[in-house]
Amino acid sequence: MLRTHTCGVLSIKHLGKTVMLAGWVQRLRKMGGMTFIDLRDRYGMTQLVFNQEINAELCERANHLGREFVLQITGEVAERSNKNKNLPTGDIEIIVSDLKILNESAVPPFTIEDDTDGGDDIRMQYRYLDLRRSAVRANLELRHKMAFETRRYLDTTGFLEVETPVLIKSTPEGARDFVVPSRMNQGQFYALPQSPQTFKQLLMVSGFDRYFQIVKCFRDEDLRADRQPEFTQIDCEMSFVEQEDILQTFEGLTKHLFKTVKNIDLDNFPRMTFEDAMKYYGSDKPDTRFEMKFVELMDVLKGYGFAVFDSAQYIGGICARGAADYTRKQLDALTDFVKRPQIGAKGLVYARIEDDGSVKSSVDKFYSQDILQNLKEKFNAEKGDLILIISGENINKARKQLSELRLEMGNQLGLRDKTKYSCLWVVDFPLLEWDDETNRYYAMHHPFTSPKPEDIVLLDTNPKEVRANAYDMVINGVEVGGGSIRIHNSGLQKKMFEILGFTSEQAEYKFGFLLNAFKYGAPPHGGIAYGLDRFVSLFAGLDSIRDCIAFPKNNQGRDVMIDAPSIIDNEQLDELALKVDLKN
Ligand code: AMO
Repeated sequence: MLRTHTCGVLSIKHLGKTVMLAGWVQRLRKMGGMTFIDLRDRYGMTQLVFNQEINAELCERANHLGREFVLQITGEVAERSNKNKNLPTGDIEIIVSDLKILNESAVPPFTIEDDTDGGDDIRMQYRYLDLRRSAVRANLELRHKMAFETRRYLDTTGFLEVETPVLIKSTPEGARDFVVPSRMNQGQFYALPQSPQTFKQLLMVSGFDRYFQIVKCFRDEDLRADRQPEFTQIDCEMSFVEQEDILQTFEGLTKHLFKTVKNIDLDNFPRMTFEDAMKYYGSDKPDTRFEMKFVELMDVLKGYGFAVFDSAQYIGGICARGAADYTRKQLDALTDFVKRPQIGAKGLVYARIEDDGSVKSSVDKFYSQDILQNLKEKFNAEKGDLILIISGENINKARKQLSELRLEMGNQLGLRDKTKYSCLWVVDFPLLEWDDETNRYYAMHHPFTSPKPEDIVLLDTNPKEVRANAYDMVINGVEVGGGSIRIHNSGLQKKMFEILGFTSEQAEYKFGFLLNAFKYGAPPHGGIAYGLDRFVSLFAGLDSIRDCIAFPKNNQGRDVMIDAPSIIDNEQLDELALKVDLKN
């Protein structure tokens, strides 16, 4: 071993001990005849001292060290006169008696400290240096701990980790596939799994009644803060269960993670139907850290000559408690916010509850004080509250706009505290979604999701109304996981493919292996997959999942460090029988 201790462990109790440390030079300061070096490793930082008067030659060598040089030192642990309370090793320093340079370093392109001067791009290009920063390192440590505790919980509850292949055929999660050309089968392609969905169902047919896998998934979709083209799922499946068993088992896993990783005891998760989530929050992943529920106002405000409301199919509002003191400028900014193209509302109506209980609104000329008092009552609003109202011709769109406004108000009023957690299950999703553009139904979750038994009769008459045995776990407005009870009957599965517009040939070509397997005694089964990256970033309080991934892709799907994707040479293209025309 090149060291006796790490840079994060020494304290007053080691005083007088001779120790050997190894690590990187974070910072070097000269003060009078003394040189101080902060030596860093994965575990922390320790201050080294070189004294000109005690050992001039050693001090001189230290003065010539550069940032990020790799050192091995021997020295004695001494008490610091100037203690640093912010550092676990801040009570001590090492009086160095021997110094060995294990490696030199070029000057790094940014300072490797918590408050770095490096912008996003440069840090991503030199991600291996960025990972030396303690904040980034802590995210990976957290990720390890969560993956480890997940394995521990699932192992003790009888789950078996099974690996499934990465070179497969198209999977049904609804995004585009990444494809890999086959050299041995020219003109044919593998797809990378969007999830191990079909394999885990096949494992149920095989009798592995409790499966899990912490597994990479690949989806070629537009990237956002909570999406990466390759990401990790905690993927699980169980046989001989009903929805309730799955919810219990995985609520248990989530509680276990909160307890072991964050020492938080969670209450049982409330359940909300998809219908209520949309009605009260305009979102299938409501942030329930704060109330501010929607109130529908068609019966209160329609029909009084205000054309915008009179022509609306939806009028709804939220009540921001204590926000009546919003200035004109703040209200204009909110109006601009909802009118941004990403949100697309036509405008925003507001009503303040004044100190005397009267209501002052931006559309006073259309509404009497009596009607405005009705409005106030609908929200149980009190003096000092601010009511914000959005309307629209399309119910779902208007609800979505109001949902964005709600979240923005939550931010502005400090109601979205990252250290508070509010978990829930959203249940009873619709089985199908109609798409006007392609004129067909899509599976809201995926085509293997089972309809609720009592709704099966509606499949022929009113497919839109069919609810699924599908559920999402939502924490602080983030969809952390989702799953469903599956269809395990090949007849019903075939029917589902029909409703989704597959011909029987297409269904056979794409999923014949699964339909076939279902002929051989498929047990009732269901499962769930968590997005590990989202879960970790939630625990870490991060705004983007990128920060908890060691080597993430940027928003263009590029790895700027290794410069991928990249072109391949003609020889390789020929072998794969591929032609690339780069003229465009
Ligand atoms: P679903 O598509 O809902 O379900 O995915 C499960 C969870 O994976 C996470 N997730 C992502 N995380 C980061 N980047 C992405 N691009 C991304 N896409 C999804 C989300 C999501 O809740 N096979 C089903 C699960 C099942 O039915 O058991 C599936 O993949 O947190």
